[in-house]
Amino acid sequence: MTDTTSTRGQEVRASSTPRPIVRDITELIGETPLLELHRFAESRGAHARLLAKVEFTNPLSSVKDRIAWAIIRDAEDRGLLYPGRSIVDITSGNTGIALAAIAASRGYPAKFYLGDNTSPDKKKIIESLGAEVVSVPNSIFIDPEGLAKLVEQIETENPDAYFTNQLANPVNPQEHYATTGPEIWRDTEGRIDFFVAGVGTGGTVSGAGRYLKEQNENIRIVVSEPGDVSLPSEENPYPAEIDGVHKVEGLDDEQLPPNYDREIADEIQQVDAEEAYEKARAVLREEGLFVGSSAGGTLTVALRLAQRPENAGKTIVAIIPDTGERYLSAGVFG
Ligand SMILES: Cc1ncc(COP(=O)(O)O)c(C=O)c1O
Repeated sequence: MTDTTSTRGQEVRASSTPRPIVRDITELIGETPLLELHRFAESRGAHARLLAKVEFTNPLSSVKDRIAWAIIRDAEDRGLLYPGRSIVDITSGNTGIALAAIAASRGYPAKFYLGDNTSPDKKKIIESLGAEVVSVPNSIFIDPEGLAKLVEQIETENPDAYFTNQLANPVNPQEHYATTGPEIWRDTEGRIDFFVAGVGTGGTVSGAGRYLKEQNENIRIVVSEPGDVSLPSEENPYPAEIDGVHKVEGLDDEQLPPNYDREIADEIQQVDAEEAYEKARAVLREEGLFVGSSAGGTLTVALRLAQRPENAGKTIVAIIPDTGERYLSAGVFG
């Protein structure tokens, strides 16, 4: 209900229905909106409905707030985390930011291992939240066993900490199954044909994707992965990258994050970083939506799907993991 009068006769447009006052940032997590990108799609000859699941409306501005809170809640419930015990994880930034914020509000010291290619903005935010950052050379991820070695190093260096382990902790995909997937299904009223996401830990695509497939097995799950030129290599350990997401096609089980369900994707498409950046700049100018580079990747794939003539009239949901404000120093916006 909207109250349109005030005692001074001026228009008042705030709803008169009170919203609950919350006592903790965790109460602001989830229930993110779907935004139809009709200008972006139509101006490129696409006739499908392209919907962005805008995860930067979470309190720490990324999809990772969902899993950070779920993982901490789970550890507290199981008695594994209590005030004074520290938490530790490997992160491309967003999980570190989300965990650091919740940790700060609950009295847990926090430490994060971050690739030295991570956007400097993310590192600054984590440090501003009072957490410690350990920088690890991006080149270690060229070695197929690099990640496993880093996990071992973390466990040795932090024997008393709780390793939140977003790459393997089953709470991560479970949270997307419990919240992200159902929100999309509910808000589209079941009218969804494609779901597009990238794979960092695989939690989003595996959890939300499984929920959606269970509602309608015809929904196609499409993964956006970085093309080869956008991956670190011996020749170029610091290419322009799509932050937070990894290649999945053609990799062995040991090289994939345990939280990525290998059966979930119906299609995997490669996107180069420059293409993803270009889409991030385009939705900013055309829709006023300020998204990060991995959202540029999902939007590139969503647009390709939307442009296929056979998909006219269909609905494509692309996940927008975070905000472009996190990449101002990373060159995504020029
Ligand atoms: C910016 C960004 N986009 C996408 C993802 C991928 O999400 P998930 O870990 O659920 O696969 C991540 C994960 O680290 C991320 O940081």
